[in-house]
Amino acid sequence: MKAEAQAQPNIALIKYWGKRDHDKNLPAVSSLSVTLDSLWTKMSVDFGAEVGSDTLLVNGVPTPAMEQRVSHCIDLIAGTERDPASIVSEGNFPIGAGLASSASAFAALVVATAAACGKTYATQTLAQLAGTSSGSAARSLYGGIVTLTAGDEHIDVQPLLDPDEWPLEVIVAVTEKGEKPVGSGAAMIRGEKTSPFYASWVKRQDDDFGTAKDAVLSRDFERLATISEHNCLKMHSVMWSSRPPIVYWNSATLSCLETIRSLQSTGHAVFFTIDAGPQVKAVCLPESAAAVMDALKATPGVLSLLQTKLGAGAKLLPSE
Ligand code: PMV
Repeated sequence: MKAEAQAQPNIALIKYWGKRDHDKNLPAVSSLSVTLDSLWTKMSVDFGAEVGSDTLLVNGVPTPAMEQRVSHCIDLIAGTERDPASIVSEGNFPIGAGLASSASAFAALVVATAAACGKTYATQTLAQLAGTSSGSAARSLYGGIVTLTAGDEHIDVQPLLDPDEWPLEVIVAVTEKGEKPVGSGAAMIRGEKTSPFYASWVKRQDDDFGTAKDAVLSRDFERLATISEHNCLKMHSVMWSSRPPIVYWNSATLSCLETIRSLQSTGHAVFFTIDAGPQVKAVCLPESAAAVMDALKATPGVLSLLQTKLGAGAKLLPSE
């Protein structure tokens, strides 16, 4: 009747931006991501609660705005004829700020829901179910470096490397605390409909995806750095060229990019990526992590830093 699960957010190096099917929430493009370790979301789902309809508490606060999305995700697993659920979510990092909180939340939600209603699913099926609610959530079912290939009927999510097979680190520079002005779903639709670059973005994605996958399998950091930065800037070009334009960056975002360029010019193994928000994620090798931390800390406009290694996929937590 009740179960709790934990998942970590993931950061895409080859981005998902745009959908081929809105009803099924199927991405238009394949993506490749790293699952993080020290940032987490825990979700508990309790079907035995004495409530008339689903309730959702996020970090102790009732959050009716998210309830419909969460209830729909639970319906996919438990069916619509189910008892109402009390859902409690807790996390140790900001929500809705471009830090992939929906990825860890929906990944944890599908694992907790399946256990709470006594169903056993293959991880791939859970990934597909999570992906129906949030495209990027599918990738958080697995740890380490993960690929998501998009088909016309369903997605296929695969672990490419375990977290300890290539000890990358991710340093997140938080440059703004508030929630983003346009959610990724609405922003993608705008890009699909209005950006003159959208078709070209979709057309070239398989090449970028293939290059990144080869770079990961051969542990070629420089090749992964070049293709990841290129893919990130291309996604933001689609956002910037949408009408009206979507610019998630602030001046500190740009300052972080300058800092990373300067670290690269002094030989550090580091590259940037940026999602639907103003935060900058620096991906680096362990030997460069301290220098990256110091340089980003000294960058104007950086409010705080989060440092993490790569982590595991979503998991069920032991019941109390
Ligand atoms: O899964 P969504 O709907 O939150 O979209 C994620 C979009 C990006 O984070 C910008 C890119 C990605 O692949 O995670």
